[in-house]
Amino acid sequence: MAQAHVRLRPITEADLPDYVEWLNDPEVTEFTQVEGPCTLEGEREWFQRVTAPDSHTRNWAIEANGRHIGNCALMLHESGEIAGFGIIIGDKTQWGKGYGTAALREVLRIGFEEMGLQRVHLTAFAGNTRGLRCYEKCGFQREGVRRRHYLKRGRWCDVVCMGILREEWEAQQCSKE
Ligand SMILES: CC(C)(COP(=O)(O)OP(=O)(O)OC[C@H]1O[C@@H](n2cnc3c(N)ncnc32)[C@H](O)[C@@H]1OP(=O)(O)O)[C@@H](O)C(=O)NCCC(=O)NCCS
Repeated sequence: MAQAHVRLRPITEADLPDYVEWLNDPEVTEFTQVEGPCTLEGEREWFQRVTAPDSHTRNWAIEANGRHIGNCALMLHESGEIAGFGIIIGDKTQWGKGYGTAALREVLRIGFEEMGLQRVHLTAFAGNTRGLRCYEKCGFQREGVRRRHYLKRGRWCDVVCMGILREEWEAQQCSKE
């Protein structure tokens, strides 16, 4: 399959109706800690918070072929050198086409190359096979499992902890050359 391409751009208020639609879709949020219902008012408050000058979160809208398909973010630890990662491709028709992987690779480049991070980590439900595959492809290592850690729709889920270190990401770049 040809390498998928995405464009990451800063989020705007005009993106919020898409987030409301996606975050109210039970299929999109099946493997996330998002618990509905999600309202435009709530998203406006979230937008103000994450775009404030003192915010520790960097959010990007993900575009593929000029279309807004999702959102991803780095949540900076107070040290400024460690960040958590989160992603939602909200447009379900675009799942499994390599866009999540392309977006994450670009976020890792920004995080390690431009922001000087030492580590990026994330958590994923053990049942999220598509997500886990995507993260492994990008070089994340499994660091452990929090067993029965999250109650999602009446079922206890195991949560996988993953992380990638600066030198692991750098080694990937060298092997591409
Ligand atoms: C998880 C998510 C970000 C992955 O992005 P994506 O663009 O769909 O994933 P990609 O196409 O880049 O990579 C998916 C990989 O999983 C594989 N895959 C696809 N569907 C799968 C499935 N049902 N089971 C197992 N693997 C699957 C793909 O084949 C691909 O691997 P490959 O390149 O080796 O063939 C996206 O699907 C999403 O946002 N889902 C809904 C919200 C969510 O789960 N967010 C993450 C919470 S941790």
